[in-house]
Amino acid sequence: MEQLLNKIEAFKKELEGTIAADAKQVEEFRIKWLGTKGVVKDIMGEMKNVAPENKKAAGQALNEFKIFAETTYETLKQSAAGSQQSTATAIDLSLPGDAMPLGSRHPVVLMKNRIVSIFQRLGFAVAEGPEIEDDWHNFGALNLPAHHPARDMQDTFYVQQNPDWVLRTHTSSVQIREMEKGKLPIRMLMPGRVYRNETVSARSHCFFHQVEGLYIDEHVSFADLKQTLYFFVKEMYGKDVKVRFRPSYFPFTEPSAEMDVTCFICGGTGCNICKKTGWVEILGCGMVHPNVLTNCHIDPNKYTGFAFGMGIERPAMLKYGVNDLRLFSENDVRFLRQFTSAI
Ligand code: PHE
Repeated sequence: MEQLLNKIEAFKKELEGTIAADAKQVEEFRIKWLGTKGVVKDIMGEMKNVAPENKKAAGQALNEFKIFAETTYETLKQSAAGSQQSTATAIDLSLPGDAMPLGSRHPVVLMKNRIVSIFQRLGFAVAEGPEIEDDWHNFGALNLPAHHPARDMQDTFYVQQNPDWVLRTHTSSVQIREMEKGKLPIRMLMPGRVYRNETVSARSHCFFHQVEGLYIDEHVSFADLKQTLYFFVKEMYGKDVKVRFRPSYFPFTEPSAEMDVTCFICGGTGCNICKKTGWVEILGCGMVHPNVLTNCHIDPNKYTGFAFGMGIERPAMLKYGVNDLRLFSENDVRFLRQFTSAI
């Protein structure tokens, strides 16, 4: 009996000295003292060894010890939770936060967004397509049958594994994909990356970006084409910019034209950028060739349409004063960091 009481006393001392800093230590305490294989359960088992005359006193002492262990557990639990709370409130919420470095948009994306947003105001929607194209979408359907000499206008990358595949040389391929869907009218913009087998230099690259546009409906005329592009130019380059169309040739449009604007660097008086002509070429355009419509199962006697296509890098170079095309694809943050804009 005496032994048992001494044991209880020793355990009480141990309990008194116990601290628990966090929930994990509180749980360790519970397992050690109150768990199914814990100290309290264990010592309770000693009752059976106590002589009958001492059972009452022993039972009382054991009960007291059990309650003591349980209240110690509750106290520890509360103080651990409280200490966590108090560290939380110890954070000074009025201190400034860590600065989050903000990225910037790529200049090509900025220019693309600008172009797209102008045409969107005229009701043009955006369509995208694959960069690896089959011969039909990149050439055939666009009135460029095999061996057509105009295929040489764009030096093409062919995909080795499949002679029918090319890296698209223009986003006109997406125009075909839109027309093939058979939903008319179409008023679409096709922005995207295109590839041409050219020597990489400050002025040309083996890939660049375009925005093409397509409008197909009944009674669409060349006048609609001109008005649409006039609107674009005024919004893009300002009210004073003059426009001229030069007759040109594209297999997929007839008639075809190239559009120049007065040089936005020198205002038309002549400088290095416009090679002293006062004009800068910005896009190709024309009325969609009836063969192209037929290839896409659209009746050319009922529907007409216009298409246009422009590069993005050149206007971006002029706007941001970039003198080397290669900078756009080198991913040098010192270059990229200079462009900040909400668009
Ligand atoms: N696809 C032509 C090019 O990449 C641009 C163009 C598009 C011209 C539509 C006329 C009509 O050069």
